[in-house]
Amino acid sequence: MKNMEDLDWRILRIVEICLKNHEWVPIQEIVKKAKLNQNEVSYRISRLVRIKMLNTSQYGYRVSHWGYDALALDTYSKKDLIVGMGGKVGVGKEGDVYNVLLPDNRNAVLKFHKHGRTCFTMGKRYRNYLADKRHISWLYSSRLAAEKEFEILTALYPIVKVPEPIANNRHTILMGKIEGTDLKKANLLNLGVNPEELFNEIIEEVKKAYKLGYIHGDLSEFNILINNEGDFVIIDWPQVIELNENKFKLEKITSKEVEYDAESYLKRDLGNLLRYFKKYNIKRDLDTIYDYIIN
Ligand SMILES: Nc1ncnc2c1ncn2[C@@H]1O[C@H](COP(=O)(O)OP(=O)(O)OP(=O)(O)O)[C@@H](O)[C@H]1O
Ligand SMILES: [Mg+2]
Repeated sequence: MKNMEDLDWRILRIVEICLKNHEWVPIQEIVKKAKLNQNEVSYRISRLVRIKMLNTSQYGYRVSHWGYDALALDTYSKKDLIVGMGGKVGVGKEGDVYNVLLPDNRNAVLKFHKHGRTCFTMGKRYRNYLADKRHISWLYSSRLAAEKEFEILTALYPIVKVPEPIANNRHTILMGKIEGTDLKKANLLNLGVNPEELFNEIIEEVKKAYKLGYIHGDLSEFNILINNEGDFVIIDWPQVIELNENKFKLEKITSKEVEYDAESYLKRDLGNLLRYFKKYNIKRDLDTIYDYIIN
């Protein structure tokens, strides 16, 4: 990014905009939008290709993963939302999470959604907002996932224990950092946490989220972070199941389907929790907890 000149940024942004209508953007299109002569545009494009901000094919150009990351980071930096960036906190199946520094010196994290990095399948359940668009680009689906996750965090925070949503740009979300580890790696007894109390507290959060109209959909010991004081947050919400009826009507999903989805996803989330807490000798009845949550 340090090597990027103003005109490089301009061309990169133009390619990004043109991708709304093109799978690959032809050079003529870029020349037209940039209002620069063809030589200048060719020069800028060759620079961007060389530093891997653009991908190229016989049909034209498109923004690479790096290019899209750079555009997002540049926006955060210009808006003074992020003043520094550190190392990776975690690598997920569908994105990377980095430490960042906010202008007020607070630590936060920046999550990059990266669909289709390894293969072009939707790893999670995105039907809610992707509808029939199965052949959309990774760029578009990553952006949708980040927007969705940010929307959910905003709806849930601070009622439900989730990271504080700070900002969203393109395929990224900026959010509060929890200094801790996921339940999978944590040893509750070493942390001085009473497993039964923690289990009950998590169920309360699941119930609050449900009341607000959301089921996590991928809840497990990997998506609950806990710190040394035993405070926890539930992360990783893009595959949420929304219970808002109007939304489903718009997407022509029948209420029967919704009910089935809601029940099966909530039960799966609860099943994952019960499985994890078994090692702490907590044995509870899934249907009883399910009824407690939905009533
Ligand atoms: N707010 C946060 N504070 C601290 N660490 C975080 C935060 N959000 C995410 N992480 C770290 O990054 C990892 C990946 O985050 P997350 O689960 O949201 O991404 P993901 O790509 O959807 O993951 P996966 O698909 O593998 O579940 C987490 O397991 C955690 O270690
Ligand atoms: Mg995760």
